[in-house]
Amino acid sequence: MQRIDGQSLAKKVQAEVAQEVAQLKLEKNIVPGLAVILVGDDAASQAYVKMKAKACEGVGFYSITHSMPESISQDEIIATIEMMNANPRIDGILVQLPLPKHIDTTKILEVIDPKKDVDGFHAYNVGRLVTGLDCFVACTPLGVMKIFEAYNIELKGKDVCVVGASNIVGKPMASLLLNADATVTITHIHTKDLKAHTSRADIVVVGVGVAGLIKEDMIKEGAVVIDIGINRIADGSLVGDVDFENVSPKCSYITPVPGGVGPMTIAMLLSNTLKSAKARI
Ligand code: GUN
Repeated sequence: MQRIDGQSLAKKVQAEVAQEVAQLKLEKNIVPGLAVILVGDDAASQAYVKMKAKACEGVGFYSITHSMPESISQDEIIATIEMMNANPRIDGILVQLPLPKHIDTTKILEVIDPKKDVDGFHAYNVGRLVTGLDCFVACTPLGVMKIFEAYNIELKGKDVCVVGASNIVGKPMASLLLNADATVTITHIHTKDLKAHTSRADIVVVGVGVAGLIKEDMIKEGAVVIDIGINRIADGSLVGDVDFENVSPKCSYITPVPGGVGPMTIAMLLSNTLKSAKARI
């Protein structure tokens, strides 16, 4: 069993981004800029946004965080996004999800200029991803693809089971895998027999937010298991969606939580923002 070290891989990607940023500054006088919108005071969202801002600083980006109260109106969020769309210093706009219930998330995401949509959530980018065209791809699934590439994990013709069909993770993940010639099954909350699907897969990618959902008898010997879940359990520790202790001995490769996919998400956000800044040239 090989434990996938997302932390080291993310550091490597960040170092590469930092080097390109330095070169962009020197040769073209361009400093990539990321704007983050945070609405409300959800502790997890605040923590993620802080990590993103720190990572931006680390690679030499210009970054701003717009924190807004829970009670903000949809129109005010839209006006802020429109301001950022028009700001030439901003290459990437990210609205941290989830948004409060009175806000229409789809509407908000559609206001972001697709060329600045470094989260890859705008329908324009999602459509291009499904079609197999160049676009911004959601950071978490893109980070998983980077892991496959770095660890030379072959996808062509493989049976891959994606557990979870969210717009942020499961659906873009499935599109990327299909584009890489894998045979993809997507399971979700209404799937009749989850184990029947996971246990015959060469690769299982799970991101649903249920601690310990994937158990030893659901994974075939030698499978690759990618765990995107992050769940805080009663003792305060963070665990994934996979029962790591019992599943890992059966795997050829497995990502731990924390230190697996998580760090790659932020690394891909930096990479997407750099890509957007390079399009200025
Ligand atoms: N909430 C959970 N994951 C993400 C993400 O990747 N991007 C944004 N914007 N919000 C999230």
